[in-house]
Amino acid sequence: MRIPMMAGNWKMNKTPAEAVEFVNTIKDELQRLSQIERVVCPPYVALAGVKQALAGTDIGVGAQDVHAEESGAYTSSVAANMLVGLADYVIIGHSETRQYLGVTDADVNKKTKLALKYGLKPIVAIGETLEQNELGQTTVVCDRQLRAALEGITDLQNIVIAYEPVWAIGTGRTATPEQAQAIIGGVVRPVLAELYGEAVAQATRILYGGSMNPANCADLMKQPDIDGGLIGGASLKVNDFIALTRIAIEVKALF
Ligand code: 13P
Repeated sequence: MRIPMMAGNWKMNKTPAEAVEFVNTIKDELQRLSQIERVVCPPYVALAGVKQALAGTDIGVGAQDVHAEESGAYTSSVAANMLVGLADYVIIGHSETRQYLGVTDADVNKKTKLALKYGLKPIVAIGETLEQNELGQTTVVCDRQLRAALEGITDLQNIVIAYEPVWAIGTGRTATPEQAQAIIGGVVRPVLAELYGEAVAQATRILYGGSMNPANCADLMKQPDIDGGLIGGASLKVNDFIALTRIAIEVKALF
C-alpha cells in the first residue's frame, strides 16, 4: 500500500529564525501523526536550522529545487551534493521554477537524476497552465512533462509525483476532486504503468497540489489515486498543516 504524504512547500516565506520557530511549534503534534509521511520544504537558507530542529523526529525535510549541473559557474545556484544531510526530499519542476527560472523538461530530468545520485528523493511536479487547460491540452502536457522528467530513470522507488495545475496554485481555485483524479488516475498512473509496469505504478505516490486547504482536503483525498498533497499557502499555518495531515489520515483510514 502507498503511504500518503503531506508536503509543505513554503516557497519564499519565513526567515531561518521563523522557520525554526514554526517547526518547533508544530513538531510534537506532527510527530504523533506518524501514519503518513510529513515533509516541510523551507527555503535553502532555513534547511540547516529546520533539519536540526527536527532531529529525532521522522518528519522529512525537503529543498524546493536543485541545479541541473553537478557544480560550476552557476552563481546563486545550489547543487545536489550540497543538499546531502540538509534535505531528504527535493521538489523538482515546480511550475514557478518552470515559469520564472526557465526550467525546462530536460532540466527537470537532469535535476531528478542528480537528486537520485545523491540520495535525495525527488518530488517531481507537473501540471498545465490555465491557457493549456482551456485549450484542452491538459493530458498532452502532463503526459509530456512526466515522460520527459523520467527519461532514462529505471527505479521509481524514491520518486514522488505531484500534479499541480498551474491555474490552481495560489489562486484559491482548486481543481475539483474529479478533475484531479482524472489526471492523476487517468494520465499519470497509466503513464507510470506503461513505463514501469502496473506494480510500480500502483506503488508510486502521486500528490495533488493547488489551493489545497482543510476545507477541500477530504474530498480530494477521497479520490482513489490521490495519495496526498503538496501544499503552499496552507502549509505556512501550524493549524492548517496539522489539520491537513489529520484529514489525510482519517480519509485513508490509517489508524
Ligand atoms: P498553494 O497551496 O498556495 O496553491 O500552492 C500550491 C503549490 O504550489 C505547492 O507546491
